[in-house]
Amino acid sequence: MASRRVKITDTTFRDAHQSLLATRMRTETMLPIAEKMDEVGFFSLEAWGGATFDVAIRFLSEDPWERIRKLKQHVKRTPLQMLLRGQNVVGYRNYPDDVVIKFVEKAAENGVDIFRVFDALNDVRNMEVAIKTVKKVGKHAQGTISYTISPVHTVEHFVEFAKRLAELDCDSICIKDMAGMLAPQPAYDLITALKKEVGLPVHLHSHSTSGMVMMTYLRSCEAGVDILDTAFSPLAWGTSQPPVESVVAALKGTPFDTGLDSKLLDEIAQYFRELREKYYDPLKLIDPKSERVDASIIVHQIPGGMFSNLLEQLREQKALDRLDEVLEEVPRVRKELGYPPLVTPTSQLVGIQAVLNVISGKRYGIVPKEIKDYVRGLYGKPPAPIDPKVKKKIIGDEEPITSRPADQLESALDKIPDDVKPYLESEEDRITYVLFPQTALDFFKRRKAKREEPKTTIPPERLAELEEVAALSATLATFTTGNSGLQAL
Ligand code: CO
Repeated sequence: MASRRVKITDTTFRDAHQSLLATRMRTETMLPIAEKMDEVGFFSLEAWGGATFDVAIRFLSEDPWERIRKLKQHVKRTPLQMLLRGQNVVGYRNYPDDVVIKFVEKAAENGVDIFRVFDALNDVRNMEVAIKTVKKVGKHAQGTISYTISPVHTVEHFVEFAKRLAELDCDSICIKDMAGMLAPQPAYDLITALKKEVGLPVHLHSHSTSGMVMMTYLRSCEAGVDILDTAFSPLAWGTSQPPVESVVAALKGTPFDTGLDSKLLDEIAQYFRELREKYYDPLKLIDPKSERVDASIIVHQIPGGMFSNLLEQLREQKALDRLDEVLEEVPRVRKELGYPPLVTPTSQLVGIQAVLNVISGKRYGIVPKEIKDYVRGLYGKPPAPIDPKVKKKIIGDEEPITSRPADQLESALDKIPDDVKPYLESEEDRITYVLFPQTALDFFKRRKAKREEPKTTIPPERLAELEEVAALSATLATFTTGNSGLQAL
């Protein structure tokens, strides 16, 4: 076999801390090590999007736009990558096209080079506006397959979907295994087929959750994978990515040698090792459970973030003893709803309906508005048809829409309320506002108040420490309200 370097993406600034420490890493924590990370020769640094946007304004009082600009100043060689939820942008519902387009334009302008675009239902109609805009602004569009296991999600099914993405002129294809369930042989079969039939570079994103990931990565290399996602070891394993140092070392001397410098990687890891101690104590941001392998996922197939949400909902209902029934109900609901991949926001939809079905004692007796909207087609087209009997129970004789969901939405950027306008300082603020109206307004108000405060005499290092402690109390509040499940991805 000819030697063919495999490229590496580092996710430490996005998925790793989103998976292990509730997305609480701050910009000022990233900047001191960013330049060194830029020297490694990574394919890209995943550093923006997903839950980082929401968490920055909600809990860290940080402007996410400022984060990407500052990172760009420190990272000059390596492309910066973001995770974009297609028509959901960085939120949890569909936004109108004007928001998607302006968001992509401004993200590119502020420093994003590679856009990983996905949709929870693999509905290409929810991705095309984002992808076309990425191409229009001359950036790298990565079309993403949300990987899941079901009778309809065959290799052929995924390849057909990837072909649609290629037709939109995507530069590469990502297999997004958000739950870490991709086993070595299915990975080999899928990547082989994608390379042969689509021909674009293939980027594999997986998680260590089930414990299979290192074997899956090696088998993926054998199938011709081009790029692998990893994170620095102090923030790797468990629900995060596998460790970059280990992947690089394991591939050394093989035809897939990454060519990255192990000594330099270790120097960078040292920074994160020290940081990690702080996240354990005093900040207590890392939940030791999320750092371990949870092999039960191989059987119940429920992603980590969704699982903790189910526990939380049952605890609230004082019905923890019904967990086993709920675990049996989840696959049943998923099947009846047409096998949606379990990723934000569909994981929340399936989870809540399964809990309601068990607790109320009557299947689909209580149906939240979100599920009705899903059945009406407002989230997109489910991978398989929805069970007709269940459909009837949920929306009666109403016909679901067959058009693109965002066609139902009116433009939003031109409808900012007058009393909000004085708080907007930039075009970016306007986007932040339409994405998360209340959270953004609270953030703008705090930002203004902070600026008007009398000058503090506290030295900057001490101030940073105090802010971290403040962030900690906000974090604990999220955990107790169960809000953290929204960050599952
Ligand atoms: Co992920």
